Amino acid sequence: MERVRLGMIGSQFAADLHLRNLSKLRGAKVDVPAVASKNKEHAAIFAKKYDIPNYYDDYRKILERKDIDIVDLCVPTDLHEAFSIEAAEAGKHIICEKPLTGYFGKEKKEKKVGLAITKKVMLKETMKGCDRVAGAVEKNKVKFMYAENWIYAPPFTKLKSLIKVSGGTILDIRAEESHSGSHAKYSRRWKTSGGGALMRLGAHPVGGVLHLKHYEGILRYGKPIRAKSVMAEVGQHTKIASFVKEKKKYIVSEWEDVEDWGVMVISFEDGSKATVFSSDAVLGGVRNTLNVYLSNAVVNVNINPHNALEVYAPEPHIFGDEYIAEKLETKAGWNFPSPDEDWVRGYPQELEDFIEAILSNREPVSGMNLARDVVEAIYGAYVSAEEGKRIPLKKE
Ligand SMILES: NC(=O)c1ccc[n+]([C@@H]2O[C@H](COP(=O)([O-])OP(=O)(O)OC[C@H]3O[C@@H](n4cnc5c(N)ncnc54)[C@H](O)[C@@H]3O)[C@@H](O)[C@H]2O)c1
Repeated sequence: MERVRLGMIGSQFAADLHLRNLSKLRGAKVDVPAVASKNKEHAAIFAKKYDIPNYYDDYRKILERKDIDIVDLCVPTDLHEAFSIEAAEAGKHIICEKPLTGYFGKEKKEKKVGLAITKKVMLKETMKGCDRVAGAVEKNKVKFMYAENWIYAPPFTKLKSLIKVSGGTILDIRAEESHSGSHAKYSRRWKTSGGGALMRLGAHPVGGVLHLKHYEGILRYGKPIRAKSVMAEVGQHTKIASFVKEKKKYIVSEWEDVEDWGVMVISFEDGSKATVFSSDAVLGGVRNTLNVYLSNAVVNVNINPHNALEVYAPEPHIFGDEYIAEKLETKAGWNFPSPDEDWVRGYPQELEDFIEAILSNREPVSGMNLARDVVEAIYGAYVSAEEGKRIPLKKE
């Protein structure tokens, strides 16, 4: 195979991110014959913007096309499982956005799914969903590529090189993704998001820390060091009475049955620990950070913010429409724009790995094992927060 033919499903935020970052490979290693999304008008706008010859309002049209090798699932998380299985059965390789899946309730009219059943049941059901996807992928001999950009971000890949040469033991990792709240409607409800801050934001740092210990294990013992147990707390800081009374809100606060704050402590088989923070109530622009304490070195990874550029403006209008940083409340004062934010966050590198994995018939750096382990750790964390105890993570 010389070129991969990719069908995009979804035409909004994540789809835009993927197509933008595939541009370098288009015409050389990738063709995009078609896009499908629920909203035909959006699909048409997207097709025009990215010069895609065909667009549909039914994703099955993508699966039916013989000239598509790989589908890119940029659809809400509650559709990942069903769409992945259907794509595998249609013989298509799969790129799936994070997180792989979750628990979204069984009844269509069920409202507060997050409060309806125990997290223990959710964990069990979610892992069954992961197994169904893994089973379909294996049975149909297709590749599953898990779109976790953190592990492709240049600061993160540099961290991996430093870990390798240091030969040190990773003792303690502290990782975080936080910002002032998602504006996507689906994020407000467990029914469509499968969880709150830990699920939507935490999936990135959890993916990062699990990948690092897997990597260390492979270097040291030829097999990954897996997570053994998890402890967690979750909260709804935007329901604190004094905050509720504040008239001017800088933080998104319309959360329904999902947490807006979470912390989890992951214990690994070798006794090391990782702490992951995620919050939808942190001002100052998006934070994507990781501090790694090795036995012989310290590495601080600042994906966002970082200070390659330090800019100052006395008034917010001075930088006009120029992009500064995701979720930044104001362009006034000192700020830290990234010179190329998509690149620093690992999006083009991630997509290049996926395309190369198909072209050279190898596994991607980020695949099914990571996708599954992330979901298990996060839902294990929800059980821990609910039951107030450490939750062992079962290994197959
Ligand atoms: N890696 C990242 O940094 C990152 C960033 C944002 C979102 N995401 C992930 O990407 C996924 C999508 O999020 P988003 O922000 O793009 O959401 P979005 O709401 O902006 O877009 C969802 C798209 O899915 C389409 N869609 C919905 N139902 C469909 C159906 N039945 N058939 C076909 N198309 C359908 C919608 O029309 C829309 O185009 C989520 O899983 C999210 O977690 C990842």
